[in-house]
Amino acid sequence: MQRLQVADTQLAVLDQGQGVPVLLVHGFPLDHSMWKYQIEHLVASFRVIAPDLRGLGQSPAAAEVVPMERFADDLALLLDALGVQEPAVYVGLSMGGYIAWEMLRRHRERLRAVVLCDTKAQADTPEAAQGRRQMAETILRQGMGPLDAAMREKLWAARSTTRCEEDVEAVHRVIRGTDPRGAAAALRGMAQRSDATELLPTIGLPTLVLCGQQDVLSPVEQMEQMARAIPGGARFAAVPEAGHMAPLENPREVNAHLEQFLHCLEQTA
Ligand code: MLT
Repeated sequence: MQRLQVADTQLAVLDQGQGVPVLLVHGFPLDHSMWKYQIEHLVASFRVIAPDLRGLGQSPAAAEVVPMERFADDLALLLDALGVQEPAVYVGLSMGGYIAWEMLRRHRERLRAVVLCDTKAQADTPEAAQGRRQMAETILRQGMGPLDAAMREKLWAARSTTRCEEDVEAVHRVIRGTDPRGAAAALRGMAQRSDATELLPTIGLPTLVLCGQQDVLSPVEQMEQMARAIPGGARFAAVPEAGHMAPLENPREVNAHLEQFLHCLEQTA
């Protein structure tokens, strides 16, 4: 990992390999390590860029709220700092998908294609937004324990906690090790994010939509509907034996879909 000055902060980022840049944007409250199997796999043929978003992982926290727009602007500046000039393939999971909408709104010229994993286009309901703001207060007072417990119930397919126990525990170590100020700022940012449903018909880039078959946070039917709303038909695949963390729970299947999508892009370049 290297640290780069980006706007008013420093971001930790892994930058490995050569070729078309593939930007891997993690979910909440995680870090780049959730992509470990994709990094391992893609680095032979692509330039893989996997940052820790501000306030998460090894990137320091500062602000009280980090809107999705701020995360997106950070990523565009990060690409500048890394000297990436050609458009990148953006791969985002969950909150990484919410940030994708802002990349499309604000920095579309930096993108060549989009992969949306286990995410949604809808904004929070008022109740969900309120729940996030309350959780932000809770973790600032009590530390990451309550959020870790809540995520444990929602992230995984039923059998993953035994089938890939080490990866599951590694994710929960990351969550418990997160600076509560960084997690609270991202929670508040997600609570105020805007709805992206109207953006879907305007994406205009090759798009792959992947969803863990047992994802309870962004269910298959909802993601399939999202894929259908993207003109020209985004490719859609449900990933078996996976919940919200499909890239970790079933890396073989996710990598196969990614590889096929990326190689098709290269052929059409
Ligand atoms: C994530 O994985 O990024 C979170 O589940 C997103 C969310 O809380 O909406």
